[in-house]
Amino acid sequence: MGPEDLNHILSALPKTRRSPKLLVGPETWDDAGVYRIAKNLALAQTVDFITPVVDNPRHFGAIAAANALSDIYAMGGKPTLALSIVCYPSDTGDLDVMREILRGGVAKLREAGVVLLGGHSVRDREIKFGFAVTGEVHPRRIVTNARARLGDLLVLTKPLGTGILATALKRGVLPVPALRAMTREMSTLNRVASEAMVAVQANAATDVTGFGLLGHALNMARASGKTLRIWSNAVPFLPNTLELVRSGVASAGLTANQSAVAPQVSWADGVPEPARLAMVDPQTSGGLLVALPASRVKAYLTLLSRRRIRGVVVGEVVRQARRLLEVAV
Ligand code: CO
Ligand code: CO
Repeated sequence: MGPEDLNHILSALPKTRRSPKLLVGPETWDDAGVYRIAKNLALAQTVDFITPVVDNPRHFGAIAAANALSDIYAMGGKPTLALSIVCYPSDTGDLDVMREILRGGVAKLREAGVVLLGGHSVRDREIKFGFAVTGEVHPRRIVTNARARLGDLLVLTKPLGTGILATALKRGVLPVPALRAMTREMSTLNRVASEAMVAVQANAATDVTGFGLLGHALNMARASGKTLRIWSNAVPFLPNTLELVRSGVASAGLTANQSAVAPQVSWADGVPEPARLAMVDPQTSGGLLVALPASRVKAYLTLLSRRRIRGVVVGEVVRQARRLLEVAV
């Protein structure tokens, strides 16, 4: 669902009682809710399920799992338990396909050290798959989207473009090397990015998913009371992303994201149109956007590259301006 529609629905909810144990609630549009259950232990919880983004069922299962675990990693947590959510056309669908999707998903959970507790399935016209995930986090080491500080640099840990490439795949115009690159990035856990950000004591983080880079950056800017300046030339894209979007390949979600962030973005002249669009492309299993002091960026990037994750500095945190996002060339 687009950010504007979601806001419309959520603004009508009755206020629930605020518990002192609720450390991160829905108000700041953070990645997962966090609830303290003991002095040194809080639970982070999230749920995410998606429609297929690639044709290979095992790959899709792995991607759906990496995507569902990501919100726990974005809070600096360690995912521990999961429940599967399966929507499947059991009358028309091939059960072996569903079995492969689950195999891919559970193998990814195992890679992450997560225990599968069970799950629920319903019959549905279209396949959907994902997990509700519980993670553990130390109450004083939670990384929210609300504490980006003045002068912090912003590091992005995966290239953008999965929504555009998945749309191209559905239209049969995606080159095979781009499909491979996209599948690899979406299947990659944000675990390394998360553990390294906790190690260097990052100030704030979020994962880049359905609202696109600018949508999630906007949530961080708003929650932190700052403006985020993105250097568009530095932003990494998957192969073929900009050519595809230039030729008109874009999802409906991209258009919704574009209109949702528009009032809050000031664009520098000379930011090319394809990059403007690709920066609001909805991502599946996107990377982390991490805000940390400039003095710790080198240490963070080194920890990432040692474990084969490429982090890129894509912007900085500046004083809050009239608009919460600035996109520079
Ligand atoms: Co998230
Ligand atoms: Co999510």
